[in-house]
Amino acid sequence: MKEKLEQIKKEAIEQIAKSDALDALNDVRVNFLGKKGELTAVLKGMKDVAPEDRPKVGQLVNETRAEIERILEEATKKLENIKREMTMKAEVIDVTLPAKKNIVGHRHPNITTQEEVQNIFIGMGYEVIEGPEIETDYYNFEALNIPADHPAKDEQDTFYINGEYLLRTQTSGTQVHVMEKGNLPIRMIAPGRVFRSDEVDATHSPSFHQIEGLVIDKHITFADLKGTLAEFAKELFGEDTKVRFRPHHFNFTEPSAEMDVSCFKCGGAGCRFCKGTGWIEILGCGLVHPNVLKMSKIDPEEYSGFAFGIGLERIALLKYEIDDMRLLYENDVRFLKQF
Ligand code: DAH
Repeated sequence: MKEKLEQIKKEAIEQIAKSDALDALNDVRVNFLGKKGELTAVLKGMKDVAPEDRPKVGQLVNETRAEIERILEEATKKLENIKREMTMKAEVIDVTLPAKKNIVGHRHPNITTQEEVQNIFIGMGYEVIEGPEIETDYYNFEALNIPADHPAKDEQDTFYINGEYLLRTQTSGTQVHVMEKGNLPIRMIAPGRVFRSDEVDATHSPSFHQIEGLVIDKHITFADLKGTLAEFAKELFGEDTKVRFRPHHFNFTEPSAEMDVSCFKCGGAGCRFCKGTGWIEILGCGLVHPNVLKMSKIDPEEYSGFAFGIGLERIALLKYEIDDMRLLYENDVRFLKQF
């Protein structure tokens, strides 16, 4: 019996030595130690051993088993180490290779322009507010002194959701939301998307962006409006920029004006850019109409204010010298990358 066990052990060791993969080692384990393995077969043969010899034989079998297991374990560890080293060698990273570029698109001229405008006003102590794109008729028209039958409403006919709700035609409604809260004084700008049922062409789109501005405090006059917007124009278009105000009509301001900046291309001499006039219109503005203040529960005897509305795309097109607004909405990265 002893020789038989010695023989088994010898064979096992030989086979382990020949195994060059973990799978092969596992086969050896099954062949020798498994349920149908050679050692188990020996144990099964115990019934033929004389009862007094059985403990001795049992011990021998266990020792053989332990020995084979130990050698198997050693061989497994060795093979695992080799395998790990091979994977490490195969996966080695060459840090000197050029990096793969991840293309993540490009900032949009609208966003760059919006941030530039925002930063100018933030620098003057304004707060940036976001108003809702879906408005009620009240906020978009009524509270801005545009009653139901007013022709100004037709000019801005838009996308109605039902009789009461619509996609806002202007960011001016945000003025009302802020005034209603009653935290005075107010110094805010409200950038955002607006909608109008306009046909698409080089200067129109049914969806574009505005930046609204509102200041409410005691003793605000047209001089504050002019000073603020002149400073804004200088920061945006350069120190030499001049501004002029032309009388205009907006329902929610009185008096109202449109502001032009001197052409930053020709300095005012007249060129293709300013259509020969030397001036470029950039925004609408005015002193907040007393009716508007009253509707938002602000006493026009105590408070006054000014408001303005800037067309964001218009500024972006000017600044980046883009001559067709549609290019801004195509999101072609080959176009966007130029700015
Ligand atoms: N909401 C106006 C428009 O869409 C622009 C505007 C003009 C806004 C004058 C103002 C303002 O706040 O005072 O045409």
